[in-house]
Amino acid sequence: MHLRCGACGATHPADRLVIRCHCGGLLDVVIDRNGPIDRAIFDRRLTALVGAERSGVWRYRELLPPLPDTAIVTKPEGNTNLYEVPGLAAWAGVSRLVLKHEGENPTGSFKDRGMTVATSHALWVGASVVACASTGNTSASVAAYAAAAGLPAIVFLPVGKISAAKLGQAIAYGARIVQIRGDFDAAMALVQEAARRFGIYLLNSINPFRLEGQKTIVVELLHQLGWEVPDWIILPGGNLGNTAAVGKALAELHEVGLIGRMPRVAVVQAEGAAPFYAAYRTGFKEYRPVHPETVATAIRIGDPVSYAKARRTIEVTGGVVAAVSDAAILEAKARIDRAGIGCEPASAATLAGLRALVAEGVIPVGASVAGILTGHLMKDTDAVMAYHLGPDAETHPLANPPRVIDPTPAALEELLSEVL
Ligand code: F0G
Repeated sequence: MHLRCGACGATHPADRLVIRCHCGGLLDVVIDRNGPIDRAIFDRRLTALVGAERSGVWRYRELLPPLPDTAIVTKPEGNTNLYEVPGLAAWAGVSRLVLKHEGENPTGSFKDRGMTVATSHALWVGASVVACASTGNTSASVAAYAAAAGLPAIVFLPVGKISAAKLGQAIAYGARIVQIRGDFDAAMALVQEAARRFGIYLLNSINPFRLEGQKTIVVELLHQLGWEVPDWIILPGGNLGNTAAVGKALAELHEVGLIGRMPRVAVVQAEGAAPFYAAYRTGFKEYRPVHPETVATAIRIGDPVSYAKARRTIEVTGGVVAAVSDAAILEAKARIDRAGIGCEPASAATLAGLRALVAEGVIPVGASVAGILTGHLMKDTDAVMAYHLGPDAETHPLANPPRVIDPTPAALEELLSEVL
Protein backbone atom coordinates (compact mmCIF):
# COMPACT_ATOMS: atom_id res chain seq x y z
CA MET A 1 0.00 0.00 0.00
CA HIS A 2 1.14 3.54 -0.76
CA LEU A 3 -0.28 7.02 -1.39
CA ARG A 4 -0.32 8.55 -4.86
CA CYS A 5 -0.94 12.15 -5.83
CA GLY A 6 -3.86 12.62 -8.19
CA ALA A 7 -2.27 15.79 -9.60
CA CYS A 8 1.42 14.99 -10.22
CA GLY A 9 1.57 11.22 -9.73
CA ALA A 10 4.22 11.36 -6.96
CA THR A 11 4.07 8.51 -4.47
CA HIS A 12 4.29 8.69 -0.68
CA PRO A 13 4.53 6.04 2.03
CA ALA A 14 1.29 4.99 3.75
CA ASP A 15 2.72 4.43 7.22
CA ARG A 16 2.27 8.10 8.23
CA LEU A 17 -0.31 10.72 7.43
CA VAL A 18 0.72 12.86 4.49
CA ILE A 19 -2.17 15.29 4.10
CA ARG A 20 -1.34 16.68 0.68
CA CYS A 21 1.37 16.07 -1.88
CA HIS A 22 4.24 18.63 -1.97
CA CYS A 23 2.62 19.91 -5.19
CA GLY A 24 -0.60 20.62 -3.22
CA GLY A 25 -2.50 17.76 -4.91
CA LEU A 26 -4.87 15.34 -3.17
CA LEU A 27 -3.63 11.86 -2.35
CA ASP A 28 -5.23 8.47 -2.98
CA VAL A 29 -4.55 5.23 -1.17
CA VAL A 30 -3.31 2.62 -3.66
CA ILE A 31 -3.66 -0.95 -2.46
CA ASP A 32 -1.64 -3.80 -3.96
CA ARG A 33 -4.07 -6.67 -4.37
CA ASN A 34 -3.12 -10.24 -4.86
CA GLY A 35 -5.54 -12.16 -6.99
CA PRO A 36 -9.26 -11.90 -7.65
CA ILE A 37 -11.84 -11.29 -4.90
CA ASP A 38 -14.43 -13.99 -4.29
CA ARG A 39 -17.86 -12.49 -3.50
CA ALA A 40 -18.69 -15.50 -1.32
CA ILE A 41 -16.25 -14.32 1.34
CA PHE A 42 -18.46 -11.25 1.92
CA ASP A 43 -21.57 -13.46 2.25
CA ARG A 44 -19.85 -15.72 4.76
CA ARG A 45 -18.97 -12.79 7.04
CA LEU A 46 -22.64 -11.73 7.21
CA THR A 47 -23.15 -14.24 9.98
CA ALA A 48 -20.56 -12.62 12.29
CA LEU A 49 -22.23 -11.31 15.45
CA VAL A 50 -19.35 -9.31 16.93
CA GLY A 51 -16.03 -7.73 15.98
CA ALA A 52 -14.58 -6.40 12.75
CA GLU A 53 -16.30 -8.96 10.50
CA ARG A 54 -19.63 -7.74 11.85
CA SER A 55 -18.76 -4.24 10.53
CA GLY A 56 -20.28 -3.23 7.20
CA VAL A 57 -16.91 -1.63 6.50
CA TRP A 58 -14.35 -4.29 7.49
CA ARG A 59 -16.50 -7.06 5.98
CA TYR A 60 -15.07 -5.75 2.70
CA ARG A 61 -11.50 -5.56 3.91
CA GLU A 62 -10.07 -7.01 0.69
CA LEU A 63 -10.99 -3.63 -0.82
CA LEU A 64 -9.55 -1.62 2.09
CA PRO A 65 -6.11 -0.63 3.40
CA PRO A 66 -4.44 -3.70 4.95
CA LEU A 67 -4.20 -2.49 8.56
CA PRO A 68 -3.37 -4.98 11.32
CA ASP A 69 -6.29 -6.30 13.43
CA THR A 70 -4.72 -4.83 16.55
CA ALA A 71 -5.13 -1.28 15.19
CA ILE A 72 -8.77 -1.61 14.15
CA VAL A 73 -11.26 0.60 16.01
CA THR A 74 -14.78 -0.44 15.05
CA LYS A 75 -18.16 0.19 16.64
CA PRO A 76 -19.09 -1.78 14.28
CA GLU A 77 -20.42 0.58 11.64
CA GLY A 78 -22.30 0.20 8.35
CA ASN A 79 -24.91 -2.55 7.97
CA THR A 80 -27.36 0.18 7.03
CA ASN A 81 -30.74 -0.69 5.59
CA LEU A 82 -31.81 -0.39 2.00
CA TYR A 83 -35.44 0.71 1.69
CA GLU A 84 -37.67 0.05 -1.28
CA VAL A 85 -39.79 3.24 -1.50
CA PRO A 86 -42.43 3.02 -4.24
CA GLY A 87 -44.32 6.10 -2.98
CA LEU A 88 -41.23 8.29 -3.09
CA ALA A 89 -40.24 6.81 -6.46
CA ALA A 90 -43.62 7.85 -7.85
CA TRP A 91 -43.26 11.34 -6.35
CA ALA A 92 -39.82 11.71 -7.90
CA GLY A 93 -41.10 10.30 -11.20
CA VAL A 94 -39.09 7.08 -11.55
CA SER A 95 -40.25 3.48 -11.64
CA ARG A 96 -37.84 2.18 -9.00
CA LEU A 97 -36.04 3.84 -6.13
CA VAL A 98 -34.16 2.34 -3.20
CA LEU A 99 -32.77 4.48 -0.39
CA LYS A 100 -29.71 3.43 1.58
CA HIS A 101 -29.93 5.02 5.00
CA GLU A 102 -26.48 5.94 6.20
CA GLY A 103 -28.09 7.77 9.11
CA GLU A 104 -28.34 4.31 10.69
CA ASN A 105 -24.62 4.30 11.48
CA PRO A 106 -23.49 4.38 15.16
CA THR A 107 -23.26 8.18 15.42
CA GLY A 108 -26.06 8.80 12.92
CA SER A 109 -24.21 9.56 9.69
CA PHE A 110 -22.07 7.99 6.95
CA LYS A 111 -18.97 9.57 8.48
CA ASP A 112 -18.52 6.55 10.75
CA ARG A 113 -17.52 4.41 7.77
CA GLY A 114 -14.62 6.71 7.00
CA MET A 115 -13.80 7.24 10.64
CA THR A 116 -13.26 3.57 11.49
CA VAL A 117 -10.58 3.30 8.80
CA ALA A 118 -8.90 6.67 9.43
CA THR A 119 -8.91 6.29 13.23
CA SER A 120 -7.43 2.80 12.86
CA HIS A 121 -4.75 4.27 10.59
CA ALA A 122 -4.13 7.01 13.19
CA LEU A 123 -3.54 4.36 15.85
CA TRP A 124 -1.32 2.33 13.54
CA VAL A 125 0.93 5.31 12.76
CA GLY A 126 1.09 6.32 16.43
CA ALA A 127 -0.88 9.59 16.26
CA SER A 128 -1.17 11.37 19.60
CA VAL A 129 -3.98 13.85 18.85
CA VAL A 130 -6.68 13.84 16.14
CA ALA A 131 -8.65 16.82 14.79
CA CYS A 132 -11.19 17.91 12.20
CA ALA A 133 -13.20 20.86 10.95
CA SER A 134 -16.87 20.10 10.59
CA THR A 135 -20.41 21.18 9.85
CA GLY A 136 -21.35 18.78 12.65
CA ASN A 137 -21.47 15.14 11.62
CA THR A 138 -17.75 14.66 11.17
CA SER A 139 -17.15 16.17 14.61
CA ALA A 140 -19.65 13.77 16.23
CA SER A 141 -17.98 10.83 14.51
CA VAL A 142 -14.42 11.98 15.27
CA ALA A 143 -15.34 12.51 18.91
CA ALA A 144 -16.87 9.03 19.23
CA TYR A 145 -14.08 7.14 17.45
CA ALA A 146 -11.34 9.07 19.23
CA ALA A 147 -13.01 8.22 22.55
CA ALA A 148 -13.18 4.56 21.53
CA ALA A 149 -9.51 4.61 20.50
CA GLY A 150 -8.42 6.48 23.64
CA LEU A 151 -7.09 9.44 21.62
CA PRO A 152 -7.67 13.11 22.46
CA ALA A 153 -9.69 14.96 19.79
CA ILE A 154 -10.05 18.63 18.84
CA VAL A 155 -12.92 19.71 16.60
CA PHE A 156 -13.20 23.07 14.81
CA LEU A 157 -16.79 24.21 14.21
CA PRO A 158 -18.35 27.29 12.59
CA VAL A 159 -19.95 29.01 15.56
CA GLY A 160 -23.76 29.05 15.51
CA LYS A 161 -23.97 27.09 12.25
CA ILE A 162 -24.23 23.49 13.34
CA SER A 163 -27.23 21.69 14.76
CA ALA A 164 -27.56 21.39 18.53
CA ALA A 165 -27.73 17.58 18.31
CA LYS A 166 -24.37 17.32 16.52
CA LEU A 167 -22.69 19.79 18.86
CA GLY A 168 -24.16 17.86 21.78
CA GLN A 169 -22.68 14.61 20.49
CA ALA A 170 -19.19 16.06 20.13
CA ILE A 171 -19.38 17.56 23.63
CA ALA A 172 -20.71 14.36 25.17
CA TYR A 173 -18.10 12.11 23.59
CA GLY A 174 -15.45 14.34 25.13
CA ALA A 175 -13.81 16.14 22.20
CA ARG A 176 -12.30 19.56 22.83
CA ILE A 177 -14.55 21.97 20.93
CA VAL A 178 -13.18 25.07 19.19
CA GLN A 179 -15.82 27.34 17.68
CA ILE A 180 -14.60 29.54 14.85
CA ARG A 181 -16.00 32.97 14.03
CA GLY A 182 -16.33 32.08 10.37
CA ASP A 183 -17.81 29.40 8.14
CA PHE A 184 -16.80 25.77 7.60
CA ASP A 185 -14.27 26.74 4.94
CA ALA A 186 -12.43 29.01 7.40
CA ALA A 187 -12.46 26.21 9.99
CA MET A 188 -11.12 23.79 7.36
CA ALA A 189 -8.24 26.12 6.46
CA LEU A 190 -7.38 26.58 10.13
CA VAL A 191 -7.37 22.88 10.98
CA GLN A 192 -5.10 22.10 8.02
CA GLU A 193 -2.70 24.73 9.31
CA ALA A 194 -2.92 23.21 12.81
CA ALA A 195 -2.19 19.77 11.40
CA ARG A 196 0.85 21.04 9.46
CA ARG A 197 2.27 23.06 12.33
CA PHE A 198 1.65 20.79 15.26
CA GLY A 199 1.67 17.34 13.67
CA ILE A 200 -1.95 16.71 14.61
CA TYR A 201 -3.56 13.79 12.77
CA LEU A 202 -6.28 15.25 10.50
CA LEU A 203 -9.53 13.27 10.28
CA ASN A 204 -11.29 15.30 7.56
CA SER A 205 -12.04 13.64 4.24
CA ILE A 206 -8.92 15.22 2.71
CA ASN A 207 -7.35 12.29 4.59
CA PRO A 208 -7.43 9.53 1.96
CA PHE A 209 -8.05 6.83 4.58
CA ARG A 210 -11.44 8.41 5.34
CA LEU A 211 -12.46 7.88 1.73
CA GLU A 212 -11.35 4.25 1.83
CA GLY A 213 -13.94 3.56 4.52
CA GLN A 214 -16.63 5.56 2.76
CA LYS A 215 -16.15 3.44 -0.37
CA THR A 216 -18.08 0.74 1.47
CA ILE A 217 -21.35 2.70 1.21
CA VAL A 218 -21.37 1.68 -2.43
CA VAL A 219 -19.86 -1.76 -1.88
CA GLU A 220 -22.48 -2.66 0.73
CA LEU A 221 -25.23 -1.15 -1.45
CA LEU A 222 -24.23 -3.34 -4.40
CA HIS A 223 -23.88 -6.38 -2.16
CA GLN A 224 -27.46 -5.74 -0.93
CA LEU A 225 -28.62 -5.44 -4.54
CA GLY A 226 -27.06 -8.84 -5.32
CA TRP A 227 -24.34 -7.01 -7.33
CA GLU A 228 -27.07 -5.87 -9.72
CA VAL A 229 -25.92 -2.38 -10.77
CA PRO A 230 -28.57 0.39 -10.69
CA ASP A 231 -28.65 2.91 -13.54
CA TRP A 232 -28.02 5.81 -11.19
CA ILE A 233 -26.57 6.44 -7.75
CA ILE A 234 -27.53 9.81 -6.31
CA LEU A 235 -26.14 11.60 -3.26
CA PRO A 236 -25.71 15.07 -1.72
CA GLY A 237 -22.43 16.96 -2.16
CA GLY A 238 -20.81 19.36 0.30
CA ASN A 239 -17.08 19.01 0.89
CA LEU A 240 -17.27 16.32 -1.84
CA GLY A 241 -15.41 13.59 0.04
CA ASN A 242 -18.29 11.18 -0.37
CA THR A 243 -18.57 11.91 -4.08
CA ALA A 244 -14.86 11.13 -4.36
CA ALA A 245 -15.25 7.90 -2.38
CA VAL A 246 -18.20 6.71 -4.46
CA GLY A 247 -16.23 7.21 -7.69
CA LYS A 248 -13.17 5.42 -6.34
CA ALA A 249 -15.29 2.52 -5.11
CA LEU A 250 -17.03 2.09 -8.46
CA ALA A 251 -13.77 2.26 -10.42
CA GLU A 252 -12.18 -0.37 -8.17
CA LEU A 253 -15.22 -2.68 -8.13
CA HIS A 254 -15.23 -2.55 -11.91
CA GLU A 255 -11.49 -3.15 -12.10
CA VAL A 256 -11.61 -6.26 -9.89
CA GLY A 257 -14.68 -7.56 -11.73
CA LEU A 258 -17.18 -7.36 -8.84
CA ILE A 259 -19.45 -5.31 -11.12
CA GLY A 260 -19.77 -5.55 -14.88
CA ARG A 261 -20.74 -1.95 -15.65
CA MET A 262 -20.63 1.48 -14.05
CA PRO A 263 -23.75 3.25 -12.81
CA ARG A 264 -23.96 6.99 -13.44
CA VAL A 265 -23.47 9.20 -10.39
CA ALA A 266 -25.63 12.27 -9.71
CA VAL A 267 -24.44 14.73 -7.07
CA VAL A 268 -26.88 17.24 -5.61
CA GLN A 269 -25.93 20.50 -3.95
CA ALA A 270 -28.01 23.14 -2.20
CA GLU A 271 -28.47 26.16 -4.49
CA GLY A 272 -26.90 28.50 -1.95
CA ALA A 273 -23.77 26.34 -1.60
CA ALA A 274 -23.21 25.01 -5.10
CA PRO A 275 -19.67 25.71 -6.35
CA PHE A 276 -19.38 22.18 -7.77
CA TYR A 277 -22.62 22.60 -9.70
CA ALA A 278 -21.44 25.95 -11.09
CA ALA A 279 -18.13 24.39 -12.19
CA TYR A 280 -19.96 21.44 -13.78
CA ARG A 281 -22.06 23.92 -15.79
CA THR A 282 -18.84 25.31 -17.31
CA GLY A 283 -17.67 21.80 -18.25
CA PHE A 284 -15.29 22.07 -15.26
CA LYS A 285 -13.40 24.86 -16.99
CA GLU A 286 -14.00 27.35 -14.21
CA TYR A 287 -14.15 26.84 -10.48
CA ARG A 288 -15.04 29.58 -8.02
CA PRO A 289 -15.58 29.22 -4.26
CA VAL A 290 -18.84 30.76 -3.03
CA HIS A 291 -20.18 32.26 0.17
CA PRO A 292 -22.37 29.35 1.32
CA GLU A 293 -25.89 29.70 2.71
CA THR A 294 -28.47 26.94 3.05
CA VAL A 295 -30.89 25.49 5.57
CA ALA A 296 -29.06 22.17 5.05
CA THR A 297 -26.22 23.13 7.40
CA ALA A 298 -24.35 19.85 6.85
CA ILE A 299 -23.59 20.93 3.26
CA ARG A 300 -23.17 24.65 3.93
CA ILE A 301 -19.73 24.62 2.25
CA GLY A 302 -18.38 27.13 -0.27
CA ASP A 303 -14.95 25.71 -1.16
CA PRO A 304 -15.02 21.89 -1.16
CA VAL A 305 -11.68 20.27 -0.42
CA SER A 306 -12.22 17.18 -2.59
CA TYR A 307 -13.22 19.11 -5.71
CA ALA A 308 -10.60 17.51 -7.98
CA LYS A 309 -11.46 13.95 -6.94
CA ALA A 310 -15.20 14.60 -7.19
CA ARG A 311 -14.74 15.92 -10.71
CA ARG A 312 -13.04 12.63 -11.54
CA THR A 313 -16.11 10.75 -10.23
CA ILE A 314 -18.40 12.70 -12.56
CA GLU A 315 -16.08 12.15 -15.52
CA VAL A 316 -15.45 8.44 -14.91
CA THR A 317 -19.13 7.58 -14.41
CA GLY A 318 -20.68 9.93 -16.99
CA GLY A 319 -22.29 11.62 -14.01
CA VAL A 320 -24.16 14.87 -13.53
CA VAL A 321 -24.38 17.60 -10.88
CA ALA A 322 -27.61 19.32 -9.85
CA ALA A 323 -28.58 22.12 -7.47
CA VAL A 324 -31.89 22.41 -5.60
CA SER A 325 -33.53 25.14 -3.53
CA ASP A 326 -33.90 25.00 0.24
CA ALA A 327 -37.68 24.80 -0.22
CA ALA A 328 -37.28 21.72 -2.44
CA ILE A 329 -34.92 20.14 0.11
CA LEU A 330 -37.39 20.72 2.94
CA GLU A 331 -40.31 19.33 1.01
CA ALA A 332 -38.34 16.22 0.03
CA LYS A 333 -37.28 15.81 3.65
CA ALA A 334 -40.88 16.01 4.85
CA ARG A 335 -41.79 13.28 2.35
CA ILE A 336 -38.93 11.01 3.41
CA ASP A 337 -39.94 11.59 7.04
CA ARG A 338 -43.60 10.82 6.28
CA ALA A 339 -42.58 7.58 4.56
CA GLY A 340 -41.46 6.48 8.03
CA ILE A 341 -37.79 6.65 7.10
CA GLY A 342 -36.66 10.14 8.07
CA CYS A 343 -33.39 11.97 7.45
CA GLU A 344 -31.70 15.30 8.07
CA PRO A 345 -32.13 18.16 5.55
CA ALA A 346 -28.83 17.65 3.65
CA SER A 347 -29.75 14.01 2.97
CA ALA A 348 -33.03 15.03 1.39
CA ALA A 349 -31.10 16.83 -1.37
CA THR A 350 -30.87 13.31 -2.81
CA LEU A 351 -34.63 13.02 -3.38
CA ALA A 352 -35.13 16.68 -4.30
CA GLY A 353 -32.32 16.37 -6.84
CA LEU A 354 -33.73 13.16 -8.28
CA ARG A 355 -37.11 14.81 -8.79
CA ALA A 356 -35.48 17.79 -10.52
CA LEU A 357 -33.31 15.60 -12.76
CA VAL A 358 -36.33 13.52 -13.82
CA ALA A 359 -38.33 16.69 -14.55
CA GLU A 360 -35.43 17.95 -16.70
CA GLY A 361 -35.33 14.65 -18.58
CA VAL A 362 -31.77 13.85 -17.45
CA ILE A 363 -32.83 10.74 -15.52
CA PRO A 364 -35.42 8.74 -17.50
CA VAL A 365 -38.66 7.56 -15.87
CA GLY A 366 -37.70 3.91 -16.37
CA ALA A 367 -34.33 4.25 -14.63
CA SER A 368 -33.46 2.22 -11.55
CA VAL A 369 -32.09 4.58 -8.93
CA ALA A 370 -30.29 4.10 -5.62
CA GLY A 371 -30.28 7.18 -3.39
CA ILE A 372 -28.05 7.72 -0.39
CA LEU A 373 -29.47 9.28 2.76
CA THR A 374 -26.47 10.58 4.63
CA GLY A 375 -27.75 11.50 8.10
CA HIS A 376 -30.43 10.63 10.65
CA LEU A 377 -33.63 12.61 11.27
CA MET A 378 -32.62 13.15 14.93
CA LYS A 379 -29.51 15.04 13.81
CA ASP A 380 -31.55 18.18 13.23
CA THR A 381 -34.84 18.37 15.08
CA ASP A 382 -34.73 22.19 14.86
CA ALA A 383 -35.32 21.76 11.13
CA VAL A 384 -38.31 19.52 11.88
CA MET A 385 -39.82 22.06 14.29
CA ALA A 386 -39.23 24.96 11.89
CA TYR A 387 -41.03 23.12 9.06
CA HIS A 388 -44.00 21.91 11.10
CA LEU A 389 -44.41 24.67 13.70
CA GLY A 390 -42.51 27.68 12.32
CA PRO A 391 -44.02 30.97 11.14
CA ASP A 392 -44.64 29.75 7.56
CA ALA A 393 -45.71 26.21 8.52
CA GLU A 394 -49.13 26.89 6.99
CA THR A 395 -47.55 27.08 3.54
CA HIS A 396 -45.95 23.65 3.94
CA PRO A 397 -48.09 20.89 2.43
CA LEU A 398 -47.07 18.24 4.97
CA ALA A 399 -47.02 20.41 8.11
CA ASN A 400 -48.15 18.36 11.11
CA PRO A 401 -48.41 20.65 14.13
CA PRO A 402 -49.34 19.02 17.44
CA ARG A 403 -52.72 19.98 18.94
CA VAL A 404 -53.17 21.19 22.49
CA ILE A 405 -56.46 20.48 24.30
CA ASP A 406 -57.91 20.70 27.78
CA PRO A 407 -57.93 17.34 29.61
CA THR A 408 -61.70 16.92 29.24
CA PRO A 409 -63.84 14.29 27.43
CA ALA A 410 -65.62 17.09 25.52
CA ALA A 411 -62.39 18.52 24.16
CA LEU A 412 -61.20 15.04 23.26
CA GLU A 413 -64.46 14.24 21.50
CA GLU A 414 -64.21 17.40 19.44
CA LEU A 415 -60.67 16.57 18.40
CA LEU A 416 -61.44 12.95 17.58
CA SER A 417 -64.43 13.97 15.48
CA GLU A 418 -61.90 15.60 13.14
CA VAL A 419 -59.58 12.60 13.13
CA LEU A 420 -61.86 9.56 13.01
N1 F0G B 1 -24.83 14.85 4.22
C1 F0G B 1 -24.51 15.01 5.50
C2 F0G B 1 -25.52 14.63 6.52
C3 F0G B 1 -23.26 15.52 5.86
O1 F0G B 1 -22.95 15.67 7.14
C4 F0G B 1 -22.34 15.87 4.84
C5 F0G B 1 -21.04 16.42 5.16
C6 F0G B 1 -22.72 15.67 3.51
C7 F0G B 1 -23.97 15.16 3.24
C8 F0G B 1 -21.83 15.97 2.38
O2 F0G B 1 -20.78 15.06 2.27
O3 F0G B 1 -18.88 16.61 2.46
O4 F0G B 1 -18.57 14.29 1.64
O5 F0G B 1 -19.74 15.99 0.24
N2 F0G B 1 -20.68 16.80 6.31
C9 F0G B 1 -19.33 17.21 6.69
C10 F0G B 1 -19.21 17.37 8.19
C11 F0G B 1 -18.75 18.30 5.89
O6 F0G B 1 -18.36 18.12 8.65
O7 F0G B 1 -19.94 16.69 8.90
P1 F0G B 1 -19.41 15.50 1.61
